Amino acid sequence: MESRMSKDWNKRTTLVHGGIRRSQYNEVSEAIFLTQGFVYDSAEQAEARFLKAGPDEFIYARYGNPTVAMFEDRIAAMEGAEDAFATASGMAAVSGALTAMLRAGDHVVAARALFGSCLYILEEILTRYGVEVTLVDGTDLDQWRAAMRPGTRVAFFESISNPTLEVIDIAAVAEIAHAVGATVVVDNVFSTPVFSRAMQQGADVVIYSATKHIDGQGRALGGVILGSCDYIRGTVEPYMKHTGGAMSPFTAWIMLKGLETMDLRVRAQAQTALTVAEALQDHPKLARVIYPGLPGHAQHALAMEQTDSGGTVIALDLKGGQEAAFRFLNALQIVIISNNLGDAKSIATHPATTTHQRLPAAQKQHLGITPGLVRLSLGLEDARDLVADILAALDQA
Ligand SMILES: Cc1ncc(COP(=O)(O)O)c(C=O)c1O
Repeated sequence: MESRMSKDWNKRTTLVHGGIRRSQYNEVSEAIFLTQGFVYDSAEQAEARFLKAGPDEFIYARYGNPTVAMFEDRIAAMEGAEDAFATASGMAAVSGALTAMLRAGDHVVAARALFGSCLYILEEILTRYGVEVTLVDGTDLDQWRAAMRPGTRVAFFESISNPTLEVIDIAAVAEIAHAVGATVVVDNVFSTPVFSRAMQQGADVVIYSATKHIDGQGRALGGVILGSCDYIRGTVEPYMKHTGGAMSPFTAWIMLKGLETMDLRVRAQAQTALTVAEALQDHPKLARVIYPGLPGHAQHALAMEQTDSGGTVIALDLKGGQEAAFRFLNALQIVIISNNLGDAKSIATHPATTTHQRLPAAQKQHLGITPGLVRLSLGLEDARDLVADILAALDQA
């Protein structure tokens, strides 16, 4: 079996063919190697493999598996990263990427506007092990500059924040972080792998929750950490293989099939997000329509420069607060109430009472997670039906 790939392929070709390893049967679709282990021809071979396994020599599925390797190779090639490690969930990727490289006494600077679980890792877990964390307003480069110091090991942020859709300048933060020798770790979920050029812009490590646009069809949890060979094989792999956050082969197969259609899906979803944002932007019941693709968004120009797109998610702030937001959510007929995003099905979320419920009221207020805020992830339905559904629900709000 050897991995099939060409550096000359464009993204869409890589997403369909990249990394494929065919067995002796020459199957068309990627095979699922649903095995936890591998048989050695001899005791000597087992010993040699434990000493140093070659790229297509597997030991145990917690360390690696052919189906998982296909997913890792395909997404690394697509992202322009040297290597990748697939994980059991997006949070396994975030916690693994950070914990694998940090030790007591290290300092992390991170943007304040983060997904609730990412904040938990920074504020509750890393600090418990002697890592110091400074939170900054991610769009304020002066705050990044002021927070950096010689012991700063990592700069961490979501390139587009969840749920308030602030866009953070990857190249500018990377320049500031690299000046003190810090590693730039970007949670790139909202930018999506389709629109990302994060590595070229200065990110050292890029993380995706594969649960979102990579699967894109609500089937499986997964994640991936992308970076240099040294970091992935030297730092992440030993940590992940001993702590057990590896992706399952069946999930890797789902994600491989997801990658085949991801470009088409995500571009269509982003187009729908723009259509919906434009249809809602002057609505009298909305205090704010937040979408980086709208010219009125504070970082619109940066979003266009960084990713050429506003992404697949918009946020609405209803003037009537939580009561109006709940009436709106309960009146939706097509858009479902759930908390994933990037899915083929459009999804509405009330962050203040769900994904960001844990945050103290003052922090929610500082981050703009108001009682009226609703996050909308646009799916693959006809945009006209979605606009009609959302406008009708706003009437009820
Ligand atoms: C920005 C961001 N990072 C990480 C995650 C975690 O991903 P997962 O649910 O796959 O663990 C999510 C969503 O859940 C997210 O929105």
